[in-house]
Amino acid sequence: MKKKIHLGYDLSWTHLDGRWRSPGSWSHVNFPDIRLYEEIAQIAERGLLDFIFFGDGTGIPNTWEGSIEPAVKWGIGWPRQDMSPFIAAMSRMTQHIGFGLTYSSTFMHPFYVARLLNSLDHVTGGRMAFNVITSTRRADAANYGFDELMEHAERYDRMDEFIHVCKALWSSVAPDAFKWDRESGLVADPSKVKAIHHTGKFFRVEGPLACVPSPQGRPVIVQAGASPRGIKTSAHVADYVFALSSGLERQVKHRNELDKALVAEGRDPRTVGVFWDVVLIVEETEREARRRYEKLLHAIPAEGIGAFLSHQIGYDLSRLPERFTIEEINGQITASNASPVGFMHITRAMEPGREMSRAEFYEQMTHHTASYDQVVYGTPKRIADYLEEIFVATGENGGFMIAHPPATPRDLLNVVDFLVPELQRRGRFRTGYSGQTLTENLRA
Ligand SMILES: Cc1cc2nc3c(=O)[nH]c(=O)nc-3n(C[C@H](O)[C@H](O)[C@H](O)COP(=O)(O)O)c2cc1C
Repeated sequence: MKKKIHLGYDLSWTHLDGRWRSPGSWSHVNFPDIRLYEEIAQIAERGLLDFIFFGDGTGIPNTWEGSIEPAVKWGIGWPRQDMSPFIAAMSRMTQHIGFGLTYSSTFMHPFYVARLLNSLDHVTGGRMAFNVITSTRRADAANYGFDELMEHAERYDRMDEFIHVCKALWSSVAPDAFKWDRESGLVADPSKVKAIHHTGKFFRVEGPLACVPSPQGRPVIVQAGASPRGIKTSAHVADYVFALSSGLERQVKHRNELDKALVAEGRDPRTVGVFWDVVLIVEETEREARRRYEKLLHAIPAEGIGAFLSHQIGYDLSRLPERFTIEEINGQITASNASPVGFMHITRAMEPGREMSRAEFYEQMTHHTASYDQVVYGTPKRIADYLEEIFVATGENGGFMIAHPPATPRDLLNVVDFLVPELQRRGRFRTGYSGQTLTENLRA
């Protein structure tokens, strides 16, 4: 039997950066109307997807000229809600679809996050995943009392300790601790409820977690480190890894580096799947897919592009010199503690070491902002060929996170109604949910 491809659907950007008004996006309500998310969750479950996903960022982009104005005006990277109550509501309309939720280990406290995710795992009946991030954006850090970003490696040290504390808390009450004996009145067995006595570099947490163990025991843990230090933490803490689709060769390399890091941690690489982030336009005909692809460049108003990119990479692009090399700019980005790999990823098509002009750079970056340089477009057959090729070359372990859809629900419907049946015909996608929890469905 062929190994199955698993699919997540990223809803983090559907209401941002001009997508909310592109044809095929909802038109009857505005973000964050819960009816919108209830509808999306039901469509995703009809398509048997593994999970829907919410990334996070808590600050309004202000890196461009130190101002929030263009972001506020054009909906660049904002608004964002805390999606946890939305997940609770969506879970009541569905039975199987999983939910990925993002919190920052740099800004949050592990006791709070462990408790919240335990409760959400109860409400959803064991369908939660936790995407833990270090946060690389200055506007986010400023809301939590930081003038500068915490140093990159230190952020990962903190993440390691954060997840260690969460896992200790999630196991601090044994699954069979609760008795709820109406006759005697006994609630729980004290020998099965243990303090964790944690004292580390970043946190002191006594424990235990004052909660009933949840259906999954703990959420599925996902992490997206891409730098060597980030991959080390992936290998240390993650059940699944999110990674960028940087081209077949680079993805095979990323998978190999992750496997080496997992072996160094004493873990079996086969137990950790990768979800490759992909932007798809699936249409019944090549011609329609191409037409929608060409329209992408007009989604974001020009004024918003600098604000979007500056926020993403952590560098005020309004200060770009007339001529420069990518490496010079990345040196400054890395020195300011943003991710050392993010900018190199979005400029990967540019020739290393070559001096370029601002105008040349902007043209490329406009393409990136619109996802024009990332989209795979075409008929279900063409997209399924692409996904299968990557899936097989990277060890048939995990699947894809369908991200940055140009229009929702249209692009979700196209995945569910055109792509999923094509993958099913090839024996590469489930024909029904076999498990109760997200963990079980991901493993099937
Ligand atoms: C699919 C995917 C989802 C991500 N979601 C978020 C997010 O919600 N918020 C965020 O600040 N970063 C997010 N990131 C960025 C990563 O957390 C990470 O910072 C990035 O991959 C750079 O790696 P590094 O920290 O090892 O340098 C995401 C990355 C990927 C590939």
